[in-house]
Amino acid sequence: MPVLAVPHPLIRHKVGLLREEGSTKKFRELTGEIARLLVYEATADFPLEPATVTGWCGEIPVERIAGRKVTLVPILRAGLGMLDGALDMIPNAKVSVVGVARNHETLQPEPYVDRFVGHLDERTALILDPMLATGGSMIATVDMLKARGCRDIRALVLVAAPEGIAALEKAHPDVRCWTAAIDSHLNADGYILPGLGDAGDRIFGTR
Ligand code: PRP
Ligand code: URA
Repeated sequence: MPVLAVPHPLIRHKVGLLREEGSTKKFRELTGEIARLLVYEATADFPLEPATVTGWCGEIPVERIAGRKVTLVPILRAGLGMLDGALDMIPNAKVSVVGVARNHETLQPEPYVDRFVGHLDERTALILDPMLATGGSMIATVDMLKARGCRDIRALVLVAAPEGIAALEKAHPDVRCWTAAIDSHLNADGYILPGLGDAGDRIFGTR
């Protein structure tokens, strides 16, 4: 399953709401809600270990996530719209920031900033970006993470195009991707149809 369209009804419902024209506030809220649900799905295989806590009746056996270090990797700008939702689910996650701009003429990714946390070889990276269109921005980000030793890389997106899925699977078959929806195709300008329009503009209110 390198790319999985998460079948959960809450996600499918919320993506439908996201597609509707509406306020920046509503778009941001839905983006955050879906990000939480995608994190929930993408972390389902995290191993647990037994632990003990002191509770109201004394020592109580519990479970906790076993030594899993996570870095969230929002791709600027639009990935920032998913960051707070993801942090709600993994409050201790470290955040690595990557800036990749898609050239509007060539559709090629142009990385412009990166601030990675340390010890990437010990971490699971959850890349956050609402749109997987040509796949160029995601592939460039995975390239950067791998170059720094990261081995467990997972991508969370709101909408993926078949073209981007094929490109990501070809370039990085080991990277799993959870998406809220797989759409029809890219238009001549590289926008996903039906898609969401320009996700960055909708999150930042710049359209
Ligand atoms: C958008 C989007 C992805 C990228 C997807 O970002 O958020 O990062 O395009 O397209 P691709 O799969 O063809 O690379 P954009 O570069 O427009 O920047 P923004 O987030 O600042 O709006
Ligand atoms: N970036 C977006 O924001 N939307 C698309 O449809 C494609 C790339």
